[in-house]
Amino acid sequence: MTMRHAHRLALRGDLLDFTAAPAWGDTESPAVRFDRDHWLLIEEGVIVGRQATEPDGSWARKDHAGQLILPGFIDTHVHCPQLEVIGSYGTELLDWLARYTFPAECAFADPARARAGAELFLDALLASGTTAAVVFATVHKASAEALFEGAAARGMRLITGKVLMDRHAPDGLRDDVVQAERDCAELITRFHGRGRLGYAVTVRFAPTSTPEQLAMAGALCRADASLYMQTHLAENRAEVDWVRRLFPDARSYLDVYERAGLLHERAVLAHGIWLDDADRRLLAARGAQVAHSPSSNLFLGSGLFDWPSANAAPFNVSLASDVGGGTSLNLPRNMLDAYKVQALRGERLTAWVALHAATRGAAEALRLGGEIGGLSAGQAADLCVWDWARGPVAEARDAAARELHERVFAWMTLADERNLAACYVAGQRRV
Ligand code: GUN
Ligand code: ZN
Repeated sequence: MTMRHAHRLALRGDLLDFTAAPAWGDTESPAVRFDRDHWLLIEEGVIVGRQATEPDGSWARKDHAGQLILPGFIDTHVHCPQLEVIGSYGTELLDWLARYTFPAECAFADPARARAGAELFLDALLASGTTAAVVFATVHKASAEALFEGAAARGMRLITGKVLMDRHAPDGLRDDVVQAERDCAELITRFHGRGRLGYAVTVRFAPTSTPEQLAMAGALCRADASLYMQTHLAENRAEVDWVRRLFPDARSYLDVYERAGLLHERAVLAHGIWLDDADRRLLAARGAQVAHSPSSNLFLGSGLFDWPSANAAPFNVSLASDVGGGTSLNLPRNMLDAYKVQALRGERLTAWVALHAATRGAAEALRLGGEIGGLSAGQAADLCVWDWARGPVAEARDAAARELHERVFAWMTLADERNLAACYVAGQRRV
């Protein structure tokens, strides 16, 4: 008789991930790795292999035959405190911030409220199939603490930081340069690099930081190249005009961040809709990524992201929900919106490019490709099991699919969090 090792787990299902970046427009791509009805082997929370044959009795087995196993999704831009303003009616970005978002974020001054908000948010991410995320907290130190502690308790790969904003925001939502620097230093010491946590220097966006605060943020990045930086960039035309008036010496919105020393390999800039080619070349030169947030861009009427020009630069594009500007934490819903954004521009987004941007592409852009984003030996067992179809319409569509891209594209179009059968973080079942 073989001894069963409690830490050995084998999952059976249809395994899908990427070995490279799929080319734009290719519905048949050598970058796609699809192993129908295989076993994924996990030891101590890490993937150790995959095989067609059933493993021996030393492995605990979980049979998901006929279901799709994907790497856990990586949401590269999402706001924890904005769950309760998701689906707020009737505004574009700047009015939406003033009317809905800033008031909601004020509530997180109360640490108990921040903790409850973080728990709700992290559980909602997992229930949507997202196992790793780059997250905006609020200006309050306690909101970043709550996210770090909640993610550690769930074993999640999480990058967040206290929001920097020292002007153009209501009372209770502004910091100042000295206090903000002290809070960042303390949070970095306590959480950055602890387990699966990473700190992001979090500039809300150029209008809400003084030049002095931007310089402080840049100095933090220069002092430690392993820190992330997250902010918003060129989302909305009124916002872009405002930045031009606030920073008359800058060549462009992006140049405000460049001058402050905020652009580097671990910089994540949300939106990036209203850019020119010089901006795109600068993003490419700095190795920074844009977190494309299509459901937010459609909902707030912000604009249509030019993905092909990003590829031409080329800079990295990852996929993000941007909840609460975005309308769903579920990344397949956002992939469908990304497809529609490109369709409106006369382009077509394949399921491969969309899925890659939410898994391996995001991981590589975050310099975390060894740890997350795929189903290869050595990577963390962060993965989700999805029903190929739920309900008679999706089932009929799935049955009619003739080849793999057609099948996965129909899944991406029709699936949502109800298709999620199981979610594993570092080999532990969390949903
Ligand atoms: N720009 C500055 N703050 C925000 C925010 O909270 N959401 C979005 N979508 N854009 C922003
Ligand atoms: Zn945002």
